Amino acid sequence: MDAKTSRYNAVNGTTKTKVTAIPGDGIGPEVVRAVQRILAAAGAQIDWEEAEAGAEVFKRGIASGAPQETLDSIARNGIVLKGPLETPVGYGEKSANVTLRKFFELYGNIRPVRELPGIRTPFSGRGIDMVIVRENVEDLYTGIEHMQTAGAAQCLKLITEPGSERILRLAAALTLAEGRHKLTCATKANIMKFTEGMMKRVFERIMPDYPAIEPSHMIIDNCAHQMVIAPEQFDVVVATNMNGDIISDLAAGLVGGLGVAPSSNIGDHAAMFEAVHGSAPQIAGKDLANPTALLLSAVMMLRHIGDFAAAEKVEQALLVTLEEGKNLTGDIAPKGTGVGTTAYTDQVIANLGRTSGYASRDYKALTLAEWPKGVWHRAPTERLVMGLDVFIESGALPAELAASLQAAAEGTGFGLKMIENRGVQVWPALSGQPFLVDLFRCRFLLDGPADSAEPAIAKLMAAIGAKHHWMHVEKLQRFDGKDGYTKAQGEN
Ligand code: NAI
Repeated sequence: MDAKTSRYNAVNGTTKTKVTAIPGDGIGPEVVRAVQRILAAAGAQIDWEEAEAGAEVFKRGIASGAPQETLDSIARNGIVLKGPLETPVGYGEKSANVTLRKFFELYGNIRPVRELPGIRTPFSGRGIDMVIVRENVEDLYTGIEHMQTAGAAQCLKLITEPGSERILRLAAALTLAEGRHKLTCATKANIMKFTEGMMKRVFERIMPDYPAIEPSHMIIDNCAHQMVIAPEQFDVVVATNMNGDIISDLAAGLVGGLGVAPSSNIGDHAAMFEAVHGSAPQIAGKDLANPTALLLSAVMMLRHIGDFAAAEKVEQALLVTLEEGKNLTGDIAPKGTGVGTTAYTDQVIANLGRTSGYASRDYKALTLAEWPKGVWHRAPTERLVMGLDVFIESGALPAELAASLQAAAEGTGFGLKMIENRGVQVWPALSGQPFLVDLFRCRFLLDGPADSAEPAIAKLMAAIGAKHHWMHVEKLQRFDGKDGYTKAQGEN
């Protein structure tokens, strides 16, 4: 076992593993208590440190939803079992879940999707058994949004090379740790060549390091389609944040929905385990909640800290309980036979030590790569500025706008190459019937490529700013001979 895993693995020694438990909101405290009871009965050597986050914390005026003591506890222990958290309307804009994921850089969201006994779905019997690995901190979820004009909004999709590499290596490590063989990277690289394409390119670069894994790439929309028509073909699937968000919920739906879907959020220094479902306020405090999803998350946690024996014991007791269908909570029980959270928990405890008809995988410790500290930076050997895209608000027709911009560019060292509207070139005019909005991207090229174009840029922007509202500017750069910008539809 590597140093990273053994850091948590005090189980076979004399001390217990410290875990931060966040009961959370709604049904959170009920399901967390149920899981703690089952783990204790299974002999898991865990020393719980309780910490607060969620609705009550927001109401005390803490905008992140997680007080400092909670953050300190997570930083100290590195392992969290968390109930669902609510963001009450009118208190803070950011969710406490997102705060915890970002604060501890929990970059890997792991969502196992496995057919469970007794949970009938239209896909039962197909043998679905896959894991979705979703990048958890980059992409459209950086939350960088700006209104460009009064009626045009923009969200920044940011994908980095190291961000892609570490999630892909995590997915590969997980494939090996679970004795799996196939890793599918699902992207929209055919449309978003730089961002989604980054994930695909890094995948192709690193997969030769994993000869025991069969790699494949799939376009994300086809992946969604394939998951419905032939879900049994998938083993491990890795995707960028937004795509992973959608396909992991889709996949969870194939095996019984969010009520039985576990997850983990893995980072280099902390890991947080939680059910996918929310706080279900309608049934909170009524002993109706199903703790299965959190229990399966706790099983993932036990494996993460290296207690494979307790993980196996709890998982098998749960599978026996579902298989026998006796004393299940109302949401999954045969009609009219549902019991409460407490009775279901007692039933799982009673089944500890029994073995189900569902074989467990031969899990191994997850070995994570060490990432260098400090700022990741790879300077290109050659960097040339070719031009500038200036985003301008205008109610003028393209020809009129072009005439005004050509006049503004005179004597600056830049010439106007084209104007586009929502990705389609509208000046010089092409055939077609573009629908125009008041946000134009105006592409200026330098008279000749320059390694320092700053004075020309300042001149051009001053001239444009005197006549137009501009909202942002992108440099058109060439890194080591490769253009770092795309062309508009119709641009040549
Ligand atoms: P939800 O998952 O809480 O509820 C959806 C439906 O599933 C409801 O009918 C609920 O009763 C049922 N349900 C969910 N978990 C269940 C369980 N364990 N046992 C039995 N039935 C269960 O989703 P909803 O209503 O959209 O969100 C409620 C609150 O939870 C919101 O404030 C939301 O922001 C928060 N939330 C928090 C999450 C987290 O902390 N990771 C994730 C999703 C939502």
